[in-house]
Amino acid sequence: MAKDLSPADALLAGIDTLPGKSLLAAGGVALSLYLLYRQALPKPLPGIPFDEESAKRILGDVPYLQAMKDQGLAARMFWPEQFDKYGTAVSQYFMGPTQKAAVALGDYREVHDLLLRHGKDLCRGPLVASVWHGVMPAHFIGMEEDNPAFKAAKALGKDLMTPSFLHEVNAPASYQKVLSIVKLWQFKSELAEGRAFDAAVDLGYLTYDIITAAALNIDDNDTQIRKYIRELGELKQPATVPASTTEPAEFPPSELTDMLSALFTIAGASGKAFQVPSPKLFHLFNNRTAKMKKAYHDRDTIIRSYIGDAVRRLQEEGDNFKPTSAMDFIVMREAAAAKKENRAPDFYSDTVVQVTFGYLLGGQDSTHATLSFLVKRIGANQAVQTRLRDTLRKAFPEAWSQRAQPPLQELVKAQIPYLDAVIEEVLRIDPPAVGITRETKKEIKILGHTIPKDTVLFLSFMGPTYTSKGFLPEKTGEALRSESSRSHAGAYDVDDWTKSGYPADEYHPDRWLKESEDGSGELTFNPRAGPFLTFSTGTRVCWGKRLAYLELKLVVTVLVWNFVFERLPENLEDWVYDEDLFMKPKNCRVKLSSAWDV
Ligand code: HEM
Ligand SMILES: *[C@@H]1O[C@H](CO)[C@@H](O)[C@H](O)[C@H]1NC(C)=O
Ligand SMILES: *[C@@H]1O[C@H](CO)[C@@H](O)[C@H](O)[C@H]1NC(C)=O
Repeated sequence: MAKDLSPADALLAGIDTLPGKSLLAAGGVALSLYLLYRQALPKPLPGIPFDEESAKRILGDVPYLQAMKDQGLAARMFWPEQFDKYGTAVSQYFMGPTQKAAVALGDYREVHDLLLRHGKDLCRGPLVASVWHGVMPAHFIGMEEDNPAFKAAKALGKDLMTPSFLHEVNAPASYQKVLSIVKLWQFKSELAEGRAFDAAVDLGYLTYDIITAAALNIDDNDTQIRKYIRELGELKQPATVPASTTEPAEFPPSELTDMLSALFTIAGASGKAFQVPSPKLFHLFNNRTAKMKKAYHDRDTIIRSYIGDAVRRLQEEGDNFKPTSAMDFIVMREAAAAKKENRAPDFYSDTVVQVTFGYLLGGQDSTHATLSFLVKRIGANQAVQTRLRDTLRKAFPEAWSQRAQPPLQELVKAQIPYLDAVIEEVLRIDPPAVGITRETKKEIKILGHTIPKDTVLFLSFMGPTYTSKGFLPEKTGEALRSESSRSHAGAYDVDDWTKSGYPADEYHPDRWLKESEDGSGELTFNPRAGPFLTFSTGTRVCWGKRLAYLELKLVVTVLVWNFVFERLPENLEDWVYDEDLFMKPKNCRVKLSSAWDV
């Protein structure tokens, strides 16, 4: 060191050497990284419980979701399960550096009140929008209600949930397809020699056949199940039957048609997008895979070819055009809208394609989930199943005495409270959508907590108050509820299923029945018995709810009429959840025998 240098100079000279410089630079980088890191860490809202560990990492609760996936569990159970973790009705979670703290609400009355009476304070929000925009941006499901495109897209499907369409198009189309699965399962159960076999795949084909039949007027011969029956019939040995009677028989699945494959692929991508910090980024990358590209291509070309058929018939038949499918009605709506707006019809637009596809997507995966849960529940609850079968035989005595199938026309109109209860109860205990996400359009109060504008809300449809005891204290809790929630206290027989005579976490259709008021002692279905939000409520309530109920009614009736769903061997009975777009049972097997002899 030179002798005439001051200590300060010496220091400066010292750091002017190469290692010194890089040390300082590294320090600077470390400091800015540290500041960035601090900036990126979750910022909890005051007073709302959260996971302490998650709050210390940039990715927040995301690693937890990933761990659930790695274990083969339904990652979405993270949302309804967090209330139990902290013992609260309101909690918060962190979805990584791109998102602010999000708030979860697990209390039936407040969720119901928010959706039904405060819908204008909430919106779909950019997060959910980006999930849907990533796969079908022209469908209304991802749009805000004040977007003019929302109304226009929704108007295209206006006829599809009317009683006349449901009864005249959906019901007959569904009925034929259910009779096909009866054939398939008679065939399979014979080959299975008393063993259980997987039902999830077959029910997936069934719900696809049903919705495509109504959407596109597919010939019975061209359905996935008929194709599957033909394929199995051509095999020398379609079933692999294990020596043990408690192990399931195995059947090869059918080869998927391009359309069904596209549907599964796009449904799967949407389901995953709900569970990542940035659905937009996820889709951006995922969209580039060959599988996704093929799915979009097949979706668009196949639907456009059906549009072409409908347009041709409409143009040829003019005023005599008789619509027989969802596609026909959508094309007619586009023609009418164009006329009204004085423009040329745009039959092949993305909107027409994606509204049609949304009908297939919404109609397939959701009812598949419910039917998969349902066959498990009635297999595990033999008394329920026997009572349902007796009830159905009494409802259609002529068909039963003639050993015929239940008559479609009567079935569509029939009011059978026990059937309704069996279906409602599976939708309650195994809701395919565990909850929904909204965003706040302004600052709001939830159970005493101030929630800022632009906060993501998870509104739960299962867990506390639905399938377990709620966490709001009975006495002090009431004062925390919103004014409109308090003024509607008592609108339901119970606001927490643990207050009913039936355990909240058990399958009891009876909870939905009450004696009719006319004193006849007859039981009626009681929709106000207690917490239930499986189809959501308010302005964005499930668009396909009526179709879902009709389809479930038809399918369950025909299946229980024809088959006994026997109790599974203990080693095959489990209640583990899995997921696609909707939540499903991880294993769905049936062990069938004929119901004609019991
Ligand atoms: C068991 C069957 C079903 C369940 C549990 C179910 C559940 C739901 C739920 C919870 C929502 C609300 C989402 C939200 O508020 O953000 C929803 C919306 C929707 N559902 Fe369903 N659904 C079922 C069947 C169907 C069927 C059969 C269709 C059509 C064929 C359908 C089409 C739709 C559409 C288009 C929306 C969006 C509505 C909008 O954006 O305003 N769903 N469904
Ligand atoms: C993914 O591709 C589909 C089909 O081309 C498109 O509609 C969608 O906007 C794309 N999403 C993203 C995030 O690029
Ligand atoms: C359906 O397919 C079977 C067997 O391939 C054939 O015999 C029958 O004629 C077909 N029916 C219709 C309506 O196309």
